[in-house]
Amino acid sequence: MVNHAFLLGALAATVTGVVAQDNVRFGNAFSLGATTSYIIEAETTLYPGKTQSGDTPRLALWPGMGTDQGQLIQAIVLGSTDAQGQNCGGKPHVSGQWCVFASALQSGTQLQGATFPINSNQGAKIHCNNTDKYDQATGITAQTVSVDGKVVSTLSTKSGKAIGFGTAEEAQDQFKGVVYEHSYVNTTVVLAAADPHFAATLVKNGATGSLVTKDNKTFKVDKITIAQHSF
Ligand SMILES: *[C@@H]1O[C@H](CO)[C@@H](O)[C@H](O)[C@H]1NC(C)=O
Ligand SMILES: *[C@@H]1O[C@H](CO)[C@@H](O)[C@H](O)[C@H]1NC(C)=O
Ligand SMILES: *[C@@H]1O[C@H](CO)[C@@H](O)[C@H](O)[C@H]1NC(C)=O
Repeated sequence: MVNHAFLLGALAATVTGVVAQDNVRFGNAFSLGATTSYIIEAETTLYPGKTQSGDTPRLALWPGMGTDQGQLIQAIVLGSTDAQGQNCGGKPHVSGQWCVFASALQSGTQLQGATFPINSNQGAKIHCNNTDKYDQATGITAQTVSVDGKVVSTLSTKSGKAIGFGTAEEAQDQFKGVVYEHSYVNTTVVLAAADPHFAATLVKNGATGSLVTKDNKTFKVDKITIAQHSF
């Protein structure tokens, strides 16, 4: 249960951060970490599916990476009509659409790239790259979010070494409703060095998906399915 404590540690940062959100709650999740190495690259395509029932602010889905500096690298797919969701990609919110953006929770401040609307049948490909020779002083992770093969949002943050990867269903403020089943396709997490214990850190809460590795360095899951959850 190392990883559960790890993920909760990262999530606690969300809760206690200087973010104007109250009453943060989490649903189902698929999570890995912490590793004794660090993540040099991670990629997944999030298919958020049907937007949640109820439109009270606010609901977010995200794949995230917690770092050794207590930061959180988390591209977000937002399902609310408030804040970023109100005006997504420069256009007013359309019912049934999600809003995606590259993002990071950095010392309690939510940093974000451009926002872009996606429909319930579209996927948001999220790529985090730290493949440069790692420099402890720089520690930059570059995030790229693509929709239909086109880059729609990017963000580079000095977040430190990513040591865990996990998905989240996050409800904030007054949100009450149902988050429908959704999936993460072709998820890949690459470590800097093999970690024979990384696979054993996997925790699935209301989630399915088979983690595969040949070398304990590159880990893949064809399809992670996150079950419906009621908040
Ligand atoms: C990852 O980042 C490196 C260094 O910035 C860059 O050269 C490389 O093209 C990137 N790879 C991908 C797949 O984005
Ligand atoms: C996932 O990988 C398979 C096999 O390489 C490919 O056919 C499919 O298009 C990929 N899907 C996404 C969403 O990346
Ligand atoms: C990967 O780790 C597992 C679990 O510790 C171990 O059984 C396996 O031999 C390792 N594989 C490689 C290629 O090192």
